Amino acid sequence: MNIFITGTNRGLGFELVKLLNSQHPNARLFISSRLPTSAFNQQWGQLLGPNKLRCYQLDLKESQHTAEIVKDLQKEGIFFDKVVANAGFGIDHGRTKPSLETATKTLDINFRFTIDFIKQFLPILSPKGRVVVVSAIMAQLNNLS
Ligand SMILES: NC(=O)c1ccc[n+]([C@@H]2O[C@H](COP(=O)([O-])OP(=O)(O)OC[C@H]3O[C@@H](n4cnc5c(N)ncnc54)[C@H](OP(=O)(O)O)[C@@H]3O)[C@@H](O)[C@H]2O)c1
Repeated sequence: MNIFITGTNRGLGFELVKLLNSQHPNARLFISSRLPTSAFNQQWGQLLGPNKLRCYQLDLKESQHTAEIVKDLQKEGIFFDKVVANAGFGIDHGRTKPSLETATKTLDINFRFTIDFIKQFLPILSPKGRVVVVSAIMAQLNNLS
């Protein structure tokens, strides 16, 4: 089973990788963060041992990052059973002041750039593969009505 997960240097993504690694040791985990690949590799190497995971640098704002990753994976003929779009901008309701800038950033990263990422991955999704989007109940469109 091949699984790709975004936003795995901290938070839910980080915990998900540790969980999958322990509960599905045969799964091949491909993970991304905004960290430079060498630092990211070091982080996970220290935790799980070397070469357990394949690490990529991916900032959702940079569409080209996804394009290059997909191109490399296509060259290797790799298809995914699960693609987990976890990376996102989280508002700290206690600290983040509501503003147009925050709203724009949230919509850009959690919606526009996430859709771009998913669309680019569709050609390397297995026929029975699934895209999992980690989101919030607040993101339900019926909350806007
Ligand atoms: N925790 C909750 O209670 C909760 C509730 C509702 C929804 N969610 C959703 O669940 C997901 C994970 O939440 P979390 O609590 O684990 O959040 P978190 O601790 O803030 O982690 C967010 C992750 O997304 C990455 N990220 C942010 N902007 C990015 C970008 N432009 N490109 C690529 N990666 C980016 C962060 O990377 P950096 O370290 O580089 O910033 C980090 O790895 C998010 O989509 C969030 O909206 C969480």
